[in-house]
Amino acid sequence: VVLGIDVGTSGTKVIAVALDGSIVSVATVSYEMLTPKPGYAEQNPEDWWNATVTAIQTVLAKAGDVSVACIGLSGQMHGLVPLDKDGRVIRPSIIWCDLRSDAEALELERTVGRDTVIQLTENPPLPNFTITKILWMRNHERDLYNRINKVLLPKDYIRYRLTDVLAIDVSDASGTLMLDVAKRTWSEEMCKAAGVPMEWLPPVYEANEVVGHLSAAAAQLLGLPEGVPVVAGAGDQAAGAIGLGIVVPGTVSAVFGTSGVVLAVTDKSLRDPGGRLHTFCHAQRNSWFVMGVTQAAGGSLQWYRNRFGQMEQTVATRSGSDVYTLLMKEAETVAPGADGLLFLPYLMGERSPHLDSQARGAWIGLQWQHTAAHLVRAILEGVSFSLRDCWEVMQQIGVKSSGWKASGGGAGGRLWMEVFASIIGNPVQIMQASHGPALGGAILAAQGIGALTEDPASIQAWLGTGNSVPPRADWVEFYNDLYPLFQKGYRETKNLM
Ligand code: XUL
Repeated sequence: VVLGIDVGTSGTKVIAVALDGSIVSVATVSYEMLTPKPGYAEQNPEDWWNATVTAIQTVLAKAGDVSVACIGLSGQMHGLVPLDKDGRVIRPSIIWCDLRSDAEALELERTVGRDTVIQLTENPPLPNFTITKILWMRNHERDLYNRINKVLLPKDYIRYRLTDVLAIDVSDASGTLMLDVAKRTWSEEMCKAAGVPMEWLPPVYEANEVVGHLSAAAAQLLGLPEGVPVVAGAGDQAAGAIGLGIVVPGTVSAVFGTSGVVLAVTDKSLRDPGGRLHTFCHAQRNSWFVMGVTQAAGGSLQWYRNRFGQMEQTVATRSGSDVYTLLMKEAETVAPGADGLLFLPYLMGERSPHLDSQARGAWIGLQWQHTAAHLVRAILEGVSFSLRDCWEVMQQIGVKSSGWKASGGGAGGRLWMEVFASIIGNPVQIMQASHGPALGGAILAAQGIGALTEDPASIQAWLGTGNSVPPRADWVEFYNDLYPLFQKGYRETKNLM
């Protein structure tokens, strides 16, 4: 088998896949996200490591008598793991959704210039990216900052613990804002302009290159032989796309996780001049992708359930059903447009296309007769419109789609997928059973030892297909008419927030 490890935000998932693509075993171990202050998001790298060890041990125990041929990695992107000269973690990791470094993003705009940053890296300064988190340490934790000797991302720290090797791959490095994404190498100029020493950065590899081998200590801990090869791996968005078979231009992916992502593969580095999309290296050679991120997609519905869904939660627990299924059932009783109610999903600010961490959510048009069902229906529609916003920008820079695949927790809701298919006016293949980024990590591992190639057909042999949900003809037209109103919603309210 090969192992795929995904160091996620809510937990680490490990999957063992046989070399014919059949899934042998899977295990997930959860951990917490720490929010010491509003807008802060941190995790302890030691928690990731402990979860990885337990998950690997569990997967191996479940798999029985197997030998591990290679290990692949995927992980939450952008998180800063600063190491001292002895390889020890200096402070908890400041992770992807931490927004404390707004001022440092502005500092880069002022000192380096937004256009220069985009020219050097293909992306604009944003507080999500690793570099602004480094600059925050420089501005606020000078003593700790002075001890930095190396900077890693989450999955690369796990690799370091597995192999003692410092390495990163091009896709994850893209999200640091220090990579020349078009050339797939570190940007010396960007590092110099921002004052980040190049020596801090690990060597950068293609995602399916073998970059290290399991150390004696890690091997003993995990119950594996020493020397198992480990590939570079990829950021979770790239790995997730690989796990869906999205490796060449054509099919576009929509992920309905806590955040929502629209991702399209390109055969050259393609950038939105406004910087509204992320332009990153893909986890296959000579391949890139553009991606739009809605901060609160599934997160909006999760928020609704947590705050207002107590009744549904009680019913679900009593009847042994799923609370989200109940919410969908309620929303089904309401016609498209939720009787004049619009939802703006900016509960955690917004990345694409507004790049506005101060954006705020809203229900617009509340009336006396609106019920909980209307609120939920409006959420499904608002999030889908927000993903269409990302897709519109992609079309403006020439991206075309030959089909759509949807994955992530939210893709389990049939109604939500019908709404989404109707809002983008295309059928959507639902890849609900996909193992996402962890499977992508396993595919990269298989490529690393030559068991798979980069030929899309070779990867597809490992993957299933999903059910297709068609758009509803009468809804398509209705939503097309409603879309400009949704767009107006942000423009007209942003100065109120
Ligand atoms: C991508 C991003 C998130 C994290 C979550 O830009 O910020 O998808 O990678 O895991």
